Amino acid sequence: MAQGVAAGERALLVAEDARGLCGTVQLVLDQPENQPHRADLAKMLVHRRPRRQGLGAALIRAAEATAREWGKTLLVLDAVTGGAAARLYERLGWERVGVIPGHALMPQGGLCDTTVYFRDLGG
Ligand SMILES: CC(C)(COP(=O)(O)OP(=O)(O)OC[C@H]1O[C@@H](n2cnc3c(N)ncnc32)[C@H](O)[C@@H]1OP(=O)(O)O)[C@@H](O)C(=O)NCCC(=O)NCCS
Repeated sequence: MAQGVAAGERALLVAEDARGLCGTVQLVLDQPENQPHRADLAKMLVHRRPRRQGLGAALIRAAEATAREWGKTLLVLDAVTGGAAARLYERLGWERVGVIPGHALMPQGGLCDTTVYFRDLGG
């Protein structure tokens, strides 16, 4: 991951509190030749200890600002359908594209549906 960041292929944002790292999110900046204006938002995680205090929202806003700094005008992500993250993206204005049934494995086993979202940063 560090090599990707050093090469400008990814941006890695972290949040810290008095006890250390407590949140992170990534932007995948390196995209196909015909999509240089796009990035993927990925790997958003907030530690259990500071959840439900607005840190997830702050990380998304910071990722959006970082994407703009890199000249990106379109962001794409996917999230577990109906989960806490999906609610957060919708509240922050991300637009829902649709649901892919059985797209990903859950940690405890079994498949879950995934919702794809995009955010137009051009406006
Ligand atoms: C999804 C995740 C990133 C959210 O992080 P978070 O820091 O709790 O996010 P926020 O605090 O911004 O918002 C979460 C909830 O707290 C509420 N909240 C925010 N600030 C609040 C406050 N000051 N007082 C009360 N509630 C508050 C929000 O309204 C939201 O409510 P909802 O769940 O009913 O929609 C976190 O739960 C997580 O890491 N989950 C596991 C990993 C994961 O699913 N990652 C996403 C992969 S796509």
